[in-house]
Amino acid sequence: MPAVYLDQAATSFPKPPCVAAAMTEYLTHVGANVNRGVYGSAQQAELVTLLLRQRLCELFDFDHPTHAVLTPGNTWGLNLVLGGALRPGDHCIVSAMEHNAVMRPLQRLAKQGVRFDRIPCDGAGFLDLAALEGLFRPNTKLVVLAHASNVSGAVQDAAAVGRICAAHGVPFCLDAAQTAGHLPLSFRELGLSALSVPAHKGLMGPQGLGALLLAPDFAKALAPYVTGGTGSASDSEDQPAYMPDKFEPGTPNLPGIYGWEAALEFLQNIGVEQIRAHDLALSRRFLAGVAGLPGVRLLGPADPQRRVGVFSLDFAGRDNAEMAYRLETEYGILTRCGLHCAPAAHKTLGTFPRGTVRFSTGWFTTERDIDAALAAIRALTAE
Ligand code: ALA
Repeated sequence: MPAVYLDQAATSFPKPPCVAAAMTEYLTHVGANVNRGVYGSAQQAELVTLLLRQRLCELFDFDHPTHAVLTPGNTWGLNLVLGGALRPGDHCIVSAMEHNAVMRPLQRLAKQGVRFDRIPCDGAGFLDLAALEGLFRPNTKLVVLAHASNVSGAVQDAAAVGRICAAHGVPFCLDAAQTAGHLPLSFRELGLSALSVPAHKGLMGPQGLGALLLAPDFAKALAPYVTGGTGSASDSEDQPAYMPDKFEPGTPNLPGIYGWEAALEFLQNIGVEQIRAHDLALSRRFLAGVAGLPGVRLLGPADPQRRVGVFSLDFAGRDNAEMAYRLETEYGILTRCGLHCAPAAHKTLGTFPRGTVRFSTGWFTTERDIDAALAAIRALTAE
């Protein structure tokens, strides 16, 4: 039985073949560190790192390659923002749909005296934008928002949130874990102060790597959350204030950087618009297949234009974990069940604590994969 991988929201697979080839090239023939040597292979590694920053700038309509900070992942990037921007007594606004990559650091900061409010969301997971206006306080220092839910797939109106944050003079950080590489995304047009993305989901790169794009004024005010050697300003025991060294202590993930740079070249050659068109075609097919199907409830919006390819199903009167197990063992369909590290989102959507079965798509997902999943869902619900 061939496996049908529909867990692209957790991590994309397969990767474009150029990713493994570039990582092998680095590990086999380059091997050198960056910022720490001036010999040829070190300079080559430095060039690929710069190229990656430039590709991130092109992809996200961002003007400052030195402010495209490379992180060990999206969770790390979000921690850098939350931990670096908020002090005891400060207030932060998040949504009622956040992932634990935001909620766990925020709850830890709350124990130190940071306060926060959640923007209420409707049953599909969309923000109540009118309610956001009323949440700002004189001590509000940050707004953090998941661009799309990893549970319902609902894509928030980030541009509207950006305008509201700008009117209040409060920095806005977007967590694009589920949209980067899937939707065209402009740092400038969304009015962002920070954009955090993982390499390994829609951006098709390897795990253990991400990027945090920081507006220059926000980067200046942000305290470095992790400090250490940078290969620069080595006469000082203080963290350099300049970018990106301020936020990039330690030797970076160079095999990952080579792989991600190759992945972004592959992605840019396709174009995000074309990837979005593919996502939309698959979404329409999946949504049509589950619409009106008895025994199963789809979470999130029915309109494919308002969502990404993340589909959570709640099998009525059944154990969703058992359904996921049977999808795999009887039909070869690989999904993610449970709470998806987002208990807040499941509380908002009414599926806490039982969770859902999540099917998620990517560039390498085919119509045949969707049809196989739909056939399996129909067979299970018909029992
Ligand atoms: N946050 C990732 C997911 O939703 C891992 O599966």
